[in-house]
Amino acid sequence: MARPDLKLYVPHSLLPRAILIVIVPLIALQMIVAFVFVQRHFEGVTRQMTRNIARELAVAQQVIDTSPSTAIAQLRLINLSEPLAIQLTLTPGDAVENVHLRRWIDLSGRALITEMEALLGTSLAIDLVANDREVDARLLTEKGILRAVIPRSRVTASNPHQLLVLMAVASTVLSIIAIAFLRNQMRPILQLAEASDAFGKGRSVPFRPAGADEVRRAGSAFLAMRTRIERAIEQRTLMLSGVSHDLRTPLTRMKLTLAMADDLPEATAMAGDVDDMEKMLNGFLAFARGDGQEEIAEVDLVELVEDIATQARRAGINIETQCYNDTRQDPVMPLRVDAVRRAVQNLITNAGRYGNQVRVCLRFTRRSAFFTVEDDGPGIPEDRYEEVMRPFTRLDEARNQDKGGGVGLGLAIAQDIARSHGGALELGESEILGGLKCTLRIPR
Ligand SMILES: Nc1ncnc2c1ncn2[C@@H]1O[C@H](COP(=O)(O)OP(=O)(O)OP(=O)(O)O)[C@@H](O)[C@H]1O
Ligand SMILES: [Mg+2]
Repeated sequence: MARPDLKLYVPHSLLPRAILIVIVPLIALQMIVAFVFVQRHFEGVTRQMTRNIARELAVAQQVIDTSPSTAIAQLRLINLSEPLAIQLTLTPGDAVENVHLRRWIDLSGRALITEMEALLGTSLAIDLVANDREVDARLLTEKGILRAVIPRSRVTASNPHQLLVLMAVASTVLSIIAIAFLRNQMRPILQLAEASDAFGKGRSVPFRPAGADEVRRAGSAFLAMRTRIERAIEQRTLMLSGVSHDLRTPLTRMKLTLAMADDLPEATAMAGDVDDMEKMLNGFLAFARGDGQEEIAEVDLVELVEDIATQARRAGINIETQCYNDTRQDPVMPLRVDAVRRAVQNLITNAGRYGNQVRVCLRFTRRSAFFTVEDDGPGIPEDRYEEVMRPFTRLDEARNQDKGGGVGLGLAIAQDIARSHGGALELGESEILGGLKCTLRIPR
C-alpha cells in the first residue's frame, strides 16, 4: 500500500509550520485535560452526590409506602421536606413514563440520570430542561407519584464549562502571543531570503543582519559573500575593459601607419589583421560590459522582441517572431534591457550567420521569461554545447571562415547576461527548423 504523503498536508512556508508546531500540542493538551477532567473528576463527583440524593428519595418512597393512608403519607412528606431541603409532593397516579430530558451539552446530566436509574429503578422520569437549576424527578410509589424538586447544586459539582472556557480563552491568548513572537523571529529570515533571491537575479538590495544569533550569522555570511562576488565582478570588468582600451591606442596608430604605407604589398594583409584585432577588442569590451552598471527597469518584452526583430530584418536576416503569454498579466518585468537586447541579438546574429531562416519566440510564464532563437543551419553537436559557450571558442575554423569574422564571444556574453539575471542559456536542436535552438531564460 502506498504511504500517504504527509508533505501534501503540511503547509509549505515557515510561519504556518511554526504555528502548527505551537498550536497542535496546545490543542492536544487541552483535549486530554478536558477529557480526563470531565470523565474522571467531574462525573465521579456528580455520581457520588447523586447517589446520596437518590438514597434520600428512596427513604421518602419507603415512608410513603409504609404509611397507612395517603393523607398520613402527605403529612409525613411535609415533615421530611424540611430537613432534606427537597421539595416533596405526592400526586395521584399509577404510572410514570420512563423519560429523561437533558440538554446535549449537559455532560454531568448523563451521569446523574444513570446513577438515579441504578438506585431507583425505571419507574422514574427526570426533567433537567424545564429549569436549569433544578432536577425535577417523578417516582412511582404505592400511593401515587412522588415528585421531588432538587436544587441542581446538590447533585452536580459547579459548572464544568467554566474550566473548559477558561482553558480555551487562556490558550487563545497564548497562541496569539506565540504567533506574534514567531512573526518577529521570522522576519529576518524572510529578509535574508529576499536579499539572496534579488542578488541571484543581479540586484543588490539593502540588507542588515537581524534576529536570532543563527539567523544573524547566516545574514552576515551572505553579506560577506555578496561583497566578495561584487568585488570579483568589478575587478574582471575593470581588467577587461582596461586592457581592451589600452590596446586600442597602439592599434589606431598602426592603422594610421598602414594607411600611409599604402604601396607596400604586405600592407593590405596587415590592415586586414589589424581590423580583426579591432573587432576582437570590441568583443572584449562588450563582454566586459556584460554585467555593467546598467540600471534595472520595467520592460515590455513583446515590444523588446519586436524591436530586436525589426533591427535584424534591416540587417538582412530573414526572421519571424512569435509571443506566448501563459499568465494573465502584461508581459512586463524588471531587467537590464540593453544587456538582454545584446544577448538576444548575439543569438540572432549567430542564427543569421549559420542559417537562412530564423525564428524568435518569447514565452512569458509566472516564474520566468524564455527567449528562444532557432535557425535552419547545421546546428552544433550535443557534446560541444558546453564548449561553444566558453569565451573565445569557435567551432571548426574552416566552417567559420567564409561566414564573416567572429571572436567566439557571442554565446559567452549571452550566457553571462542570463546568469547575471539569475537565469541561464541552454542550447538544443530546433524541432521545427532543424538547426540550433538557443533558449535564454530570465527568471522574474
Ligand atoms: N546558430 C548556430 N548554428 C551553428 N553553429 C553555431 C551557431 N551559433 C554559434 N555556433 C557555433 O558556436 C561558435 C561560438 O559562437 P559565438 O557566438 O560564441 O562566437 P562567434 O559567433 O563565432 O563570434 P562572435 O559572436 O563573438 O562574433 C561559433 O563559432 C559557431 O561555430
Ligand atoms: Mg556569435
